Formats: sequence, structure tokens, C-alpha cells
Amino acid sequence: MINTIHIDNTFPICWVDKYDANGNLYFELLWADEIRELAKTRRVVLNLYSETGSMAAAFSESDEYVVLTLDLEHGYDMLRENPLGFKEDLEEWCGITQIDGIIGNAPCTDFAGSGARWWADKDAGKGFTDEYEKDHCYAKSTTDLHVTMAELVLLYVDFLEPRFWIVENPVGRINSLVPAVEQYGKPLWVNPNEYAGWANVDTEELNELDRIRAKDGVDVTTEEARLIVICNAYTKKTGLWGCFNRDLVKKEIEPVKGNTFGSPLMRFGGKSQKTKASRSKTPLGLSRAIFEANK
Ligand SMILES: C[S@@+](CC[C@H](N)C(=O)[O-])C[C@H]1O[C@@H](n2cnc3c(N)ncnc32)[C@H](O)[C@@H]1O
Repeated sequence: MINTIHIDNTFPICWVDKYDANGNLYFELLWADEIRELAKTRRVVLNLYSETGSMAAAFSESDEYVVLTLDLEHGYDMLRENPLGFKEDLEEWCGITQIDGIIGNAPCTDFAGSGARWWADKDAGKGFTDEYEKDHCYAKSTTDLHVTMAELVLLYVDFLEPRFWIVENPVGRINSLVPAVEQYGKPLWVNPNEYAGWANVDTEELNELDRIRAKDGVDVTTEEARLIVICNAYTKKTGLWGCFNRDLVKKEIEPVKGNTFGSPLMRFGGKSQKTKASRSKTPLGLSRAIFEANK
């Protein structure tokens, strides 16, 4: 089943995730015509700023939905494309006139409270690190760049008028820098472990988690930390702003420490795009809880 389609800047040509016989991921080309066919019988969810489509993963699992991701890693630069053009292209090439939901995982680099000690420098324009960011020289700081990126989610919402929309960001300052995210009120604060029961954790894994929990973070192996992450049995507080049904059903698993500091995600450090992407993936349990409440 085709479920998550990555749009690129040459849209109407897009990419689909496929797995070969050995379970290795590869991309296959897809034409807008095929999306047109899918959209005749399925509702469309857009996942903005998402390389993996992980927050919309539960919508992808359903054969009633098709998920389109827009992300720089797949060649769609939100800062260069425009929502009106996208809306017109969707209609012209795919016959899609109604978007059911928009989920925006705008970069939190300059918003997250965990980086607060760098805010002053970043606001003063000292945060530019790579050629891509420097290239957007109209922005006087990376903070401005990230504000624009978050505001773009709201612009896509304005143009596409979805039935529901969600902006996800960690504890930090997105609400003070982009106050319009709170037009439907304060965020719903969530932690992966509160929805972990949606991630099909079996009895054997629960027993294994009990054993690892008893270690209280001491001498937890990489394999054990990986299991904690797969089972979503960790905390990582994040906020969900927007217009959506906030009555998510919790299926809680008591969190398990992955090291003495707590988070098992810290075990998977590294600055490569791949490790960064896996750290910022939305856990499946949370995605399924969002889906159940908003499908
Ligand atoms: C915090 S991560 C969100 C990851 C998401 N939860 C996932 O599972 O893929 C932010 C994403 O924004 C993307 N991004 C950064 N700048 C962008 C741009 N100008 N246009 C589109 N995507 C961009 C990055 O590639 C990254 O995937």
C-alpha cells in the first residue's frame, strides 16, 4: 500500500518509501496521477517539516488516508515554495481540493527551552551555521528564520483550510514568538510514555521493560535503550497547538530510564542528519492516539 508520499520541488514527481526484501529503505518515483487516483477514495493529510512523516504515521497506516510530506530532505523547501502555488498544483495535478488535516513539525532549534542559553546569541544573528541558512540572507537571525518557518505552517492552514491542524513543538518559546499558534488556546502537553500502549507493546517487552526499569538508568545497554525507544517508554515533553480534538486516550507505560540522566534518546547522539532525524521522530503510540481522536 502506498501510504506516505514525499513531495519535492519538481512536483508532480514525488517519492514513496519502499523496502526491499532485506528491509532496506529505498525511494521510488511516483507521478501526481497516482496521487490523483488515491485521493479519489482517501482523505489527504499534509505533514509539513517531516522527513519521515512520523507524526502522521497512523494516518498512513489507514487505507482511508494518504499522507503527503513536505520537507527539505525530500527537496521541498518551505521557505522557497508558496502555499497558494501548492494549493493550485494539488488541484491541477491531483484533483485535490480538500485537505483533511495538516500536521506541522516546524524546526524547534531556536525555540526549545533546552537551548535557552543560546537564545540571546541566536536572536543577535550569531546562530547561522551552514550554507543553506546563510543563503537565506534576508533573515537577520536564525530565530527569524525559524519564526518564518513556523508561521508558514499557519499560512498553509489559512490557504488550505483543513478540518484539523496541529503544530508540534517542545517546551520553549514558540508561543511567545509565534503567538498565532495559540489562536485555539494553550497546547496539549504530551509525553511518549503516556501513549506507549498504542504502540503494540507485547507482554514479553513489558517484562523486559520492568527488568530494565529496575536498573534505574545504571548500566543500561544500547540494545536495552533501543527497546525503551521502540516501546515509547520514555518522557520527552512536547506541546500540540492548534485546532484538533484534544481528547487523546492515554495508554500509559511507566517510563524507563535509558541512562542516569533519564532519556534513552541521549544514547543516540550524533550530528548526522540520520541520527538527528531518528531523535526527532514522533513515537508511533502518540501518532496513533492523535489519529484515533481525529480521524
Ligand atoms: C524537528 S524536525 C521534524 C522531524 C519530524 N518529526 C519527522 O519525524 O520527520 C524538522 C524538519 O524540518 C525540516 N526542514 C528544515 N528546514 C526546512 C525547510 N526550509 N523546508 C522544509 N523542511 C525543512 C528538516 O529537514 C526536518 O526534517
